[in-house]
Amino acid sequence: MTKKLYIETVGCQMNVLDSELVVASLRKEGYELTDSPQAADTVLFNTCSVRQHAEDKIYSALGRLKNAKQENPDKIIGVLGCMAQKDQKLIFQRAPYVDLIVGPGQLHQVPQLISEIADGAGQQMEVSLGRKDGGRAEIERSHESFDPLRDPTMRPTPYQAYVRIVIGCDKFCTYCIVPSVRGPEQSRPPAQILAEARQLASEGCKEITLLGQTVNSYKFKEGERTTRFSDLLNAVHEIPGIERIKFVTNYPKDMTDDVLETVRDLPKLAKYLHVPLQSGSDAVLDRMKRGYTTDDYREMHDRIREWLPRAAVSSDFIVGFCGETEDEFQATMDSVREYRFKNSFIFKYSERPGTKGAERYPDDITEEVKRERNNRLLDLQNEISEADNQDFLGREVEVLVEGPSKTATRKDEADGPVLQLTGRTMCDRIVVFEGNQRQIGETLPIAIYDANAHTLFGNVVTQHVGPELFTLGV
Ligand code: 5AD
Ligand code: SF4
Repeated sequence: MTKKLYIETVGCQMNVLDSELVVASLRKEGYELTDSPQAADTVLFNTCSVRQHAEDKIYSALGRLKNAKQENPDKIIGVLGCMAQKDQKLIFQRAPYVDLIVGPGQLHQVPQLISEIADGAGQQMEVSLGRKDGGRAEIERSHESFDPLRDPTMRPTPYQAYVRIVIGCDKFCTYCIVPSVRGPEQSRPPAQILAEARQLASEGCKEITLLGQTVNSYKFKEGERTTRFSDLLNAVHEIPGIERIKFVTNYPKDMTDDVLETVRDLPKLAKYLHVPLQSGSDAVLDRMKRGYTTDDYREMHDRIREWLPRAAVSSDFIVGFCGETEDEFQATMDSVREYRFKNSFIFKYSERPGTKGAERYPDDITEEVKRERNNRLLDLQNEISEADNQDFLGREVEVLVEGPSKTATRKDEADGPVLQLTGRTMCDRIVVFEGNQRQIGETLPIAIYDANAHTLFGNVVTQHVGPELFTLGV
């Protein structure tokens, strides 16, 4: 008998991938997806702990399910992922009708645990060891990753897929909960990664995004042999069918020349680097324990420009970190002016219990100041993004077409329905244009005629007239 599964995912790409894997494993048990939590036999939340807001959203979603569980006690409610690892039994205390708590390192156990609960075993919880609860090897083992099972319906699009290459993080930035919930940094064996990428390519996937909290810290030792991140990129590049390779998120200190050279030389590698700076102030970077100074970042950025003059670089920033003065914030504004990032993800600092930041420094910047700094930085970044996007006017770009745009408008024309489609360039810029269903999944030349801070607008170039034809007078 088919059972219905509702799954909601918040947080980063890692969580999107984890949900894909959970769905794949539950499909094997006869589950089908539904988009109604009310109609579902099992409701799962794959959660994020990076900021308080993400946790609050899940606790309210759980609150909304209380009545549904009372009406149907057989409905199984599960909390998966980072918040499950961080809050553990606290979730049962706050929402006693939750049946299942599973950390990011135990997701492969979800089908078994659900079937035990259905058989009357009562509440179940499986989480990894904490960072101080054993020897390194033992803790590493407790963060198992289970990547072979895939589910195409859960991917961003049928043509794009994530492949995990590094799990966990060892950087311990003082604001960040990730090292404690996702465990020690571990690189996956290259053979596993390549097998997975080949499988995805054979299923029609054209773009692969390699994932890691510090993806460019990848290093795998096997006896005498060490596979560096750049070696792995070279190997993935060999796979037929894969047209584009991206990777996120980079750690500035690990952006070595061999990686930049590889990105320059291999045509399938996206000329796009997401390398978060977090703050433009040395004093703040020091309190954050980011492990680099503004000069270190500048040196790295200069090298990016040397190897890849036209690459798009993007960043993350946290505003209102403990003790951030107006001058320190201005230093961040200056860095955005200096580097002219393609885009920046800007976050208001959210204190995370259990981190060094929460232990050492009071969260003393008011919500109002955080909000105001967030807006100022966003306005500046938008101005820069828009000016940079204007450079594309009149130019032609190669776009991998992802599907209908969110604001898709359909109108019927003589030659069939016209769709508003969206896709991305090699340097990760979003392009919206009119096209048709057949073009989804294709890589097309698009001529850009308009641009704002977030989007380029263009037309499909139907007849590519090369310069040699122009000289022939065509
Ligand atoms: N508060 C606000 N933002 C945070 N990030 C990580 N931890 C926090 C926190 N406690 C941001 C960083 C990181 C991005 C994924 O989330 O900018 O790069
Ligand atoms: Fe968090 Fe820093 Fe690791 Fe990124 S590098 S996941 S910000 S601890």
